[in-house]
Amino acid sequence: MTQLDEIGDTDDGSLEDEEVDEVVYSTDWRWSGNRNIDTNLIYMVYIDSISEVSGREATLNGWVYNIRTSKKLVFIIVRDGTGLCQTVVAQDDVSPKVWEQASSLQQESAIVITGMVNADERSIGGYELHVRDLKIVSQAEEYPITPKEHGVEFLMEHRHLWLRSRKQWAAMRVRNTIIFAIHRFFQERGFVQMDAPIFTGNAAEGTTNLFETDYFDRKAYLTQSGQLYGEAMAMAHGKIYTFGPTFRAEKSKTRRHLTEFWMIEPEMAYYDLDMNMDLAEEMMAFIVSEVVRLNRSELEVLERDTATLELIKAPFPRITYTEAIERLKSPQMQEKLDRMESDRQEEAESLKKELAALDSEFGQAKKGRKFQIDRRRGEINARMDQIEEDLRNIPVWKNSALEKKWGEDFGGSDETLLTMDEVTPVMVYGYPAEVKAFYMKRDSANDNIALGVDILAPEGYGEIIGGGQREDDLETLRQRIKEHNLPEEQFQWYLDLRKYGSVPHSGFGLGLERTVAWLCGLKHVRETIPFPRMMGRLYP
Ligand code: 4AD
Ligand code: MG
Repeated sequence: MTQLDEIGDTDDGSLEDEEVDEVVYSTDWRWSGNRNIDTNLIYMVYIDSISEVSGREATLNGWVYNIRTSKKLVFIIVRDGTGLCQTVVAQDDVSPKVWEQASSLQQESAIVITGMVNADERSIGGYELHVRDLKIVSQAEEYPITPKEHGVEFLMEHRHLWLRSRKQWAAMRVRNTIIFAIHRFFQERGFVQMDAPIFTGNAAEGTTNLFETDYFDRKAYLTQSGQLYGEAMAMAHGKIYTFGPTFRAEKSKTRRHLTEFWMIEPEMAYYDLDMNMDLAEEMMAFIVSEVVRLNRSELEVLERDTATLELIKAPFPRITYTEAIERLKSPQMQEKLDRMESDRQEEAESLKKELAALDSEFGQAKKGRKFQIDRRRGEINARMDQIEEDLRNIPVWKNSALEKKWGEDFGGSDETLLTMDEVTPVMVYGYPAEVKAFYMKRDSANDNIALGVDILAPEGYGEIIGGGQREDDLETLRQRIKEHNLPEEQFQWYLDLRKYGSVPHSGFGLGLERTVAWLCGLKHVRETIPFPRMMGRLYP
């Protein structure tokens, strides 16, 4: 049995029968029950609470994030899932065995490392651990992801390992904050979290992107939205929300579409569209403020400008669909795009010059400077790709904005244009009924208008929320089901909700991954979920 197995056996955490030289208890949960696997001393610490052991010895359980060797020193940056810590092994201060092990380490080897912790503001995380003892739990093979740049395809194939990289790690921490903030928001307001089924017999959001499965010789679909079930649950509990995976067979390969994504869908009895919009706005403002409050260091790792996020406060601008169309078609929009085009061209020129200067410097540069130059070249190339994409897009955008007709749905580029200059999200309501789902209630003053709202994230991140008031009249709803060619027999239960105590009610769906992308400043939703599912991706 290995020592780790032994540890696993004492899963009640009891230390009663064991010899313990020194017990340091702390009220902090991160401490309790942890012990060094060699000595039984209880002083293991997670990096995010390392400040609590400043000036003392502590043990870190982690992995080698990065390693640098000089003649008599080995610098190991350790990661333990909660953060990074610089550690130093000095040949003169450790046994020959420890020195030999430290010198043999590979990136991502698992190690348990013990030594004196001291504040050091030059170190990553502000502390440095001076190593006394080091134990290799498992030596890693040559790690495929190195500090040099890798293509996205390569990284996606290694997603299971890529998750350990710093930016990916930071994005998942932000995702976690968002999830917790959403639960807090609704729970504190008396909403009941309920779960909608994943196998369903009927479509909710149109029939074009359904995933069909074989359900004991019958057809079943993976759910596109929990909403219809949410309506039934709201009639039982008043205010509910679902939080679950949803599926759409999106054949489009855009940076905003996944085939499997997580949606949060509150549904409220006795809510009209305005109340629904107020709630969505309040929720969004709360999520943003929680991310800013709790994820400063993660946002820094992601190079996300927090100043723009801090400006986000309710109320958000509310415009009608018709106003949005007018904005798109306006001469000001054309001027703005012209300006954008010339700005991008200028920026590209100056980046090209910088690149040429770096190229000519590279030959004579020292090792450290070469590293810096490589870094900067990587940044410039990434920005140049973005600029080229913009320059290809701008003429297309100009044209599609100009050609936009009342009655058409917005595409990704329209959403980008509508929010390009905004710092807060924009709420667009009063859509043409034609482009919205069968369950949308119509405006009593104009039957062509649906009481729906979309919330568009600023800075061009696109639609993050879709929602609205639901049709609550039995006959009208039955008629809509017919108009949309949906099988009425599958909707009997849904129609029942209009037979037995029908009331005005509303709700919305927030796309988790698009929210993460926006708040993290990530261009593509594939980096916002641990294992993204897209048209061309099922591995790992
Ligand atoms: O606008 P959608 O389709 O609305 C609904 O499904 C409603 N039934 C919600 C409701 O009222 N309860 O989707 C809602 C949100 C979108 O705004 C977007 O953020 C996200 O879900 N979304 C996607 N996210 C990633 N990949 C996709 N393929 C997505 N499709 C929608
Ligand atoms: Mg939508």
